[in-house]
Amino acid sequence: MKKIAVLTSGGDAPGMNAAIRAVVRTALHNGLEVMGVYDGFKGLIKNTMYEMNYRSVSDCLNKGGTILKTARSKEFMTPEGLQKAVDNIKANGIEGLVVLGGDGSFRGASTLCEAGIPTIGVPCTIDNDIACTDYTIGFDTALNTACECIDKLKDTCSSHHRCSVVEVMGRHAGHIALTLSVANGAEAVLVPEKSFDVKEDIVDCINESLKKGKSHFVIIVAEGIGNSEKIAVQIETLTDIETRVAILGHLQRGGSPTVTDRVTASRMGVEAVELLLRGESNRVVAMKDNKIVNYDISEALSMKKSIDEELYNVFEDITY
Ligand code: F6P
Repeated sequence: MKKIAVLTSGGDAPGMNAAIRAVVRTALHNGLEVMGVYDGFKGLIKNTMYEMNYRSVSDCLNKGGTILKTARSKEFMTPEGLQKAVDNIKANGIEGLVVLGGDGSFRGASTLCEAGIPTIGVPCTIDNDIACTDYTIGFDTALNTACECIDKLKDTCSSHHRCSVVEVMGRHAGHIALTLSVANGAEAVLVPEKSFDVKEDIVDCINESLKKGKSHFVIIVAEGIGNSEKIAVQIETLTDIETRVAILGHLQRGGSPTVTDRVTASRMGVEAVELLLRGESNRVVAMKDNKIVNYDISEALSMKKSIDEELYNVFEDITY
């Protein structure tokens, strides 16, 4: 193998730059040429690629976002789009590809493998919703950003004896919401993995807390639940406590990556290139019990990730 390429795809995640840096430097240390592809799979179709060197990844370790930019490409899903991408990969002499992204990006990576391009996936998403891995790059930074915001909301909530309904990201998963419920001492948490009843799971909790002398409340709602505004109205009606909604949104995706994200991204990026050097393809890098491992992409995509029941029990044990 003489030349590889790297791209970032789907939603960006803090730590992607550290992973790009690790891929580029590991490739160069091993005598490979490495190309950066702009705008994910779209860049493969449009042939927006450039040769990277040691300096291309200088000073990016501490930056949020992705220096390679990212996109979601519908064209890549079509046979014509895929063919254009494969033709450009071959025309550039690229013999292996590293795809940084979430499960949608891994489906794209798998398609490229089927088309004969050795491809390795690295899990990057703030949602931590990829089943084969304990951890996805970006999760810790997003948690810390959201945690700081919720601390601030608690200050104003406390001054006004209010209830704050905070909606956090996570797509269809509740890992961000559950972790923050423990980190921020929320009164209630709603995650898509568990059914809920506003009266039983929120109003009763607030009333219990009121009895114990508490006069301000934080309710964390995963975006997969939806209806944060409606839930807030129900809370205010049933408790008579002034309630406000805060949707944290995309600010959870930005910011300088934490040490955990920089180090994990570096470890995973190195492993991705080593897999290509060992002649592997269609693998996704993962973390299990703090060890870097890898899985077949199709097997990884068929796995289901459930909510951390132990953490949910911790939340229940120490709330109000
Ligand atoms: O997958 C990361 C994520 O931030 C989800 O938490 C969220 O549902 C989605 O991406 C938002 O996507 P977009 O940036 O396209 O609005």
